[in-house]
Amino acid sequence: MPAPEVRIGDAAFIAGALATDFANEAHAPIVARQHFRIAIPGGSIADTCFPALAKLPLDWNELEFFWTDERAVPPEHEDSNYRAAKERWFDPAGVPPARTHRMIAERDLDESARSYIGMLIRWCGLPVKLDYALLGVGPDGHVASLFPGRPNAANEQAIVLVEHESPKPPAERLTLAMPVLANAGRVAIVAMGAAKAPVIAEALSQHDSSLPVARVLRRAARVLVLLDNEAATGVNSSR
Ligand code: 6PG
Repeated sequence: MPAPEVRIGDAAFIAGALATDFANEAHAPIVARQHFRIAIPGGSIADTCFPALAKLPLDWNELEFFWTDERAVPPEHEDSNYRAAKERWFDPAGVPPARTHRMIAERDLDESARSYIGMLIRWCGLPVKLDYALLGVGPDGHVASLFPGRPNAANEQAIVLVEHESPKPPAERLTLAMPVLANAGRVAIVAMGAAKAPVIAEALSQHDSSLPVARVLRRAARVLVLLDNEAATGVNSSR
C-alpha cells in the first residue's frame, strides 16, 4: 500500500484540510453515480471537524451517511454519535433525514447489527465498499469501536460487530469491522492532543504494530492522516 499522506497543523487547519479532502473525494462519485457513501465516528471530531464539513457546498441529497460505530444509547442521549452528527452537521447543513442511516443501538444489539449489515450490503455491495471512512483515534490506538486486545479488533469475517466490554464508556457499542473500514475508497484519520502521540508514532513507524489504528493505516489503499502538533510529537523522528 502507498504511504499514508500525513498533514500536521492546528485545529483550524485540520478541519479545513478534512473538508477540502472530503469535497474532492465526493466529486467524482457524485458526478458518476449521484451518491457518495461515508461512515462517520463519534468523539471530539464532531466538535472539531463536523461544523466545517457542514459548510461544504454539496447537494446533501447525494450523500449517504453511515456510522463507523455507535454507543448503546438512544439517539437523543448526549453520548449518542448520531446526535453529535445531527447537531453539528446534519441540522446546520440541512441534510435530509432519509440520507442518514444511523446504527440503532438502543435496542437488541445483535438484531441491530444484523439489520445494519443488510442495509450496508444494499447500499454498498458485498464486500461492503464505502467511499469514505472518517476515523478518530483513542489514546489506546482504537478506531471506531475496535479496541486493542478485544476479539472484535481481530475479526476478519464480520461486517458489523457488537462490543459489550468497551474500555471507553459506554461499554456497549456497535461497530464496523476492520475489513469494512480498510476497504473504504478513502480513509481519513484525525488525531488531536498529546495523549494520541504514542499510538500515532507507533502506527506510522512500526510495520508490525497490532494497534487497530496501525492496521487500518497499513491496509487501506488511500489514507489521509491529519494531526495537530501535540499528536504529531514523535512522528518526524519515527518516520
Ligand atoms: C466513539 C468513537 C471513537 C472515537 C475515538 C476518538 O464513539 O467513541 O467513534 O472511535 O472516534 O475514541 O475520540 P476522541 O477524539 O474524543 O478522543
